[in-house]
Amino acid sequence: MNVFGVDIGGTGIKGAPVDLDRGRLGAERHKVLTPHPATPDAVAGRVKEVVEHFGWSGPVGVTFPGVVTDGTTRTAANVDESWVDRDAEGMLADLLGLSVTVLNDADAAGTAEMSFGAGRGRTGTVILLTLGTGIGSAVFTGGRLVPNTELGHLELDGHEAEQRASTKAKEDEDLGWHHWARRVEKYLAHVEMLLSPELFIIGGGVSRKADKFLPHIKGIRAAIEPAQLQNNAGIVGAAMAAADRGMHARTAYVA
Ligand code: BGC
Repeated sequence: MNVFGVDIGGTGIKGAPVDLDRGRLGAERHKVLTPHPATPDAVAGRVKEVVEHFGWSGPVGVTFPGVVTDGTTRTAANVDESWVDRDAEGMLADLLGLSVTVLNDADAAGTAEMSFGAGRGRTGTVILLTLGTGIGSAVFTGGRLVPNTELGHLELDGHEAEQRASTKAKEDEDLGWHHWARRVEKYLAHVEMLLSPELFIIGGGVSRKADKFLPHIKGIRAAIEPAQLQNNAGIVGAAMAAADRGMHARTAYVA
């Protein structure tokens, strides 16, 4: 079964049809730049471009880099603040004329990793952290997601953790891998103190360069693994969420 996934990120908006049986993209993804300012109308226009590039007419899952409850975006740390309390799902569904499911970006990436990547078969507490423009988190236990956990906004050394340990912080402060890894280590130790996971999955674009920083991270009890779907996890997870929604809707109808 194929469903379309779109990942809205700080720099790019990318999407592709997803082969849900295999957890892989069904075609090469199409990427456009995130508009600045990243207002709802401007971003929605780019999402439309991505979906229309494939002439897609089925259900669509969309990730958002903030809290999303019942399709409404609640926070906007790294996008325009006019997203707060917007009915993102309704707005996108109207614009695309398609059924749309919106969820947090890290929750989407985590969902994909639990089924098709580094979290497969893990039943204990697993925490995926995406290190990018911000830090996103997805917490699972018994394979089930606790949505919208927002662990990137925990305090670390008097700052929000994402201002210290995101890859944006690494770039902005021109930190070397070793120096940055120390900060990530401190952050992981803090999250471990709170939640004692059996596994941390490190996602985001930087997961491709795991060999540059993971070896510097010491003293964490939990296993630490790079995400396996790398930068496609958000797209795959978004499509999974849309498919899941479709299934529930059908079940409700039959009942
Ligand atoms: C947001 C999260 C998001 C993360 C990664 C954070 O600033 O609050 O909701 O998952 O960035 O985009």
